[in-house]
Amino acid sequence: MGLKIVMLGGPGAGKGTQAKRMAGKYGLPHISTGDIFRANLKEGTSLGLKAKGYMESGQLVPDELTCELVANRIVQDDCGAGFILDGFPRSLPQAEEFTRLMEARGESLDVAIDIDVTDEEIVERLSSRRSCPKCGAIYNLKFGPPKQEGVCDNPECEGEALIQRKDDCEATIRERLRVYHETTEPIIAYYGDQGILKSVMGTGVTPEVVFGKIEEILSAMGA
Ligand code: AP5
Ligand code: MG
Ligand code: ZN
Repeated sequence: MGLKIVMLGGPGAGKGTQAKRMAGKYGLPHISTGDIFRANLKEGTSLGLKAKGYMESGQLVPDELTCELVANRIVQDDCGAGFILDGFPRSLPQAEEFTRLMEARGESLDVAIDIDVTDEEIVERLSSRRSCPKCGAIYNLKFGPPKQEGVCDNPECEGEALIQRKDDCEATIRERLRVYHETTEPIIAYYGDQGILKSVMGTGVTPEVVFGKIEEILSAMGA
């Protein structure tokens, strides 16, 4: 069955952590707009160059660029059975544009899952996040460190050194939170009004507990 899922939640709420697990269990592609922008930045593409300044200062990349990127991505073959969107939509105009895009294809979203985490916990998590530039694995020095300090656990990564994201310094984390509350949070009510919102409490609970809640939501939907 086709499952079209949107993951909502502030910076550091655990969207990427959960979406990766869900992709593994349900065989759906994990589409993170942030990851796509970072990959473009690394490769020096024109999209990457356009996004760079916004990302490094914690602002949103303009809606037109982001919507175009997603529109092109979800028509690819691997999205035939659905997808997990992580980090999109993040503004009301993006959410409305995405609804129009789905409608034009005779489709609709199945569920928007919001992971709710307090700002204090977000600042703590993001200051100690590390990730693998090779496989994208996400670690946390306090809440989920790699087995060996500073390197990825994945044997295929052969001891790749973990990196810290440029936007994970405290001043930029605070700015991302501000932008989240101002511009992104209103889309929770937007999906609430559409009747497809599910909320998961994410503060002070392990990724396993959050994943269990998501499995319950999806199994109730027949997945
Ligand atoms: P993006 O990459 O999407 O960043 P974000 O929304 O700020 O979210 P993060 O990736 O920081 O957090 P996450 O929720 O994925 O948490 P994670 O699982 O890593 O976007 C980056 C930038 O790109 C934006 O600022 C913007 O400029 C641009 N952009 C992207 N999409 C855009 C769009 N649609 N429109 C415009 N601009 C866009 O977890 C965080 C940490 O916590 C990790 O260390 C993890 O190990 C740990 N952790 C996870 N779960 C738990 C738990 N339960 N308990 C303890 N620790 C946990
Ligand atoms: Mg992420
Ligand atoms: Zn790795």
